[in-house]
Amino acid sequence: MRVTITVNGEQRVADDVWAGESLLYVLRERLGLPGSKNACEQGECGSCTVYLDGVTCCACLVAAGQADGRSVDTVEGLSHHAGEGELHPVQQAFVETGAVQCGFCTPGLLVATHDLLARDPDPDDSEIREALAGNLCRCTGYEKIIEAVHLAARRMR
Ligand code: FES
Ligand code: FES
Repeated sequence: MRVTITVNGEQRVADDVWAGESLLYVLRERLGLPGSKNACEQGECGSCTVYLDGVTCCACLVAAGQADGRSVDTVEGLSHHAGEGELHPVQQAFVETGAVQCGFCTPGLLVATHDLLARDPDPDDSEIREALAGNLCRCTGYEKIIEAVHLAARRMR
């Protein structure tokens, strides 16, 4: 089947999509957007977090056909909005605080943090932990991630 999705503001078409294919697969393998990571493919880790019509979800759990005609924003879209060659303040904060180690969890955390700060510009530690509870990181112990969210929040306020 053909699937048409507005991805990061641009209409994209994927052909020959099979019924069981996930949105994550379409983004990574058909549309050349490997930012969203495939770490568990079961909705457990959050590394594939994207916006679907403005609401965050795990792209591995969305069938490609379900996304047809809808709008998807991925981690790649964050830097588009930041301007050519620049990082979004959330991305910059993760880099500066050392919140990125292996990087597998990072794209999902960036999208989830972007979503949190759009709703709450000054979250406290427990609100950050709750908002990012669906995003698992094996490397950092989360302290640096929380520091990154506070830094991004300060800069974006
Ligand atoms: S790859 Fe989608 S939640 Fe883990
Ligand atoms: S940096 Fe490795 S899983 Fe988070």
